[in-house]
Amino acid sequence: MSNATLKVNGKEYRLSFSPHQTLLHVLREELGLVGAREGCGIGICGSCTVLVDGRTISSCLMLAVQAAGHDITTVEGLADDEKLHRVQRAFIDHFGFQCGYCTPGFILSTVALLANHTNPSAEEIREYLSGNLCRCGSYPNILKAVMSLSDSEV
Ligand code: FES
Ligand code: FES
Repeated sequence: MSNATLKVNGKEYRLSFSPHQTLLHVLREELGLVGAREGCGIGICGSCTVLVDGRTISSCLMLAVQAAGHDITTVEGLADDEKLHRVQRAFIDHFGFQCGYCTPGFILSTVALLANHTNPSAEEIREYLSGNLCRCGSYPNILKAVMSLSDSEV
């Protein structure tokens, strides 16, 4: 077993887990943060996306021990008490989901995109979010949601 302190959504957790456990497994099974979902398990679908020091990471590919010492953000950490993050609000307002399985990953990728690029074009949004897959095909509304947050919206 490995002992490590993980900082997740601003709180530090002292944890003990097998060295081979992924960050995704520890977030879900040890911390009960189930917003990150397992889809493919091999880094293709983006449903397990979390932010590590502000960068999008497929948590199915990262060992939990590698995350020690870094700031991890999951979708559960975005809202400010009762107030949703503006990206969460935009996805709701524009119906940017159907089943919702992919949604936390899309939202976190959008947060990372807008942190570095306040006015992405539709093409840039498509490119940046290309690592997130939606089996329900909600792409048109997801694009509308993200465009609503872009300064370049006309
Ligand atoms: S479950 Fe991690 S990328 Fe698909
Ligand atoms: S809303 Fe169902 S997978 Fe995207």
